Amino acid sequence: MTTTEVSAVRRWWGFALPAVAIAVLAPLPYARGSLTSLAADNDLAANYADRATWVQAAFYLHITCGGAALLLSPMQFAARLRQRAPLLHRTCGRIIFAAIMLGSVAGLVLAPFNLAGPIGAAGFGSLAILWGGSAVGAIRAARRRDFAAHRRWAIRVFALTYAAVMLRVWLIILISLQIGVAADTAFTRAYHVVPFLCWVPNLLIAERINRNEASTT
Ligand code: HEM
Repeated sequence: MTTTEVSAVRRWWGFALPAVAIAVLAPLPYARGSLTSLAADNDLAANYADRATWVQAAFYLHITCGGAALLLSPMQFAARLRQRAPLLHRTCGRIIFAAIMLGSVAGLVLAPFNLAGPIGAAGFGSLAILWGGSAVGAIRAARRRDFAAHRRWAIRVFALTYAAVMLRVWLIILISLQIGVAADTAFTRAYHVVPFLCWVPNLLIAERINRNEASTT
């Protein structure tokens, strides 16, 4: 392997591992008990414990489909796997697309009920629309065999899917920066910032990657 290939593989592991970890760990608590039983020490479970059944159904659909999309997405960027097993890439792509469609519609349903109020509804709502919209862009480009555009859209889709990772990373950073602030207050303040912070920088980085790739080809 050349040094460029080695650093590409390292970069891949660098984003694949956190994605897989969050895809498994974030939904896991909700498999351990009902929202009501988790509500005592989980603010998000408490937020949904008394909601209508259709809101709770959207919640479970969202975390299952979001988890599946995040778990499978890194595989699509493994260049060797894509070259050696194109059928696997296509099959996985279709599963991810279906998961994102369901996950984004469910995310849009949840947005008005989120813990951060109007800022969360705006941040999570626009993320849900862009997430689903970019996935449609990626699939449409692949169907018309415009693989350069397909790659650009796929990079945007992954940057937006990665919001689930960055939301949790930013929460940890923002909460730890608030030294001496009560845990509840620190969480509430941080949670009002992350609905946009979890995805806007990711999308800017994706656009930069796309511009750099376009200028080198
Ligand atoms: C990228 C588009 C996404 C949007 C628009 C979105 C939106 C939302 C919203 C509105 C909530 C409720 C938050 C609240 O009540 O305050 C939520 C919760 C949640 N989402 Fe997403 N989400 C996205 C991606 C993902 C992905 C890829 C995963 C995969 C792990 C995921 C997993 C979860 C989990 C586990 C929760 C429950 C809250 C928690 O325990 O952290 N989401 N999401």
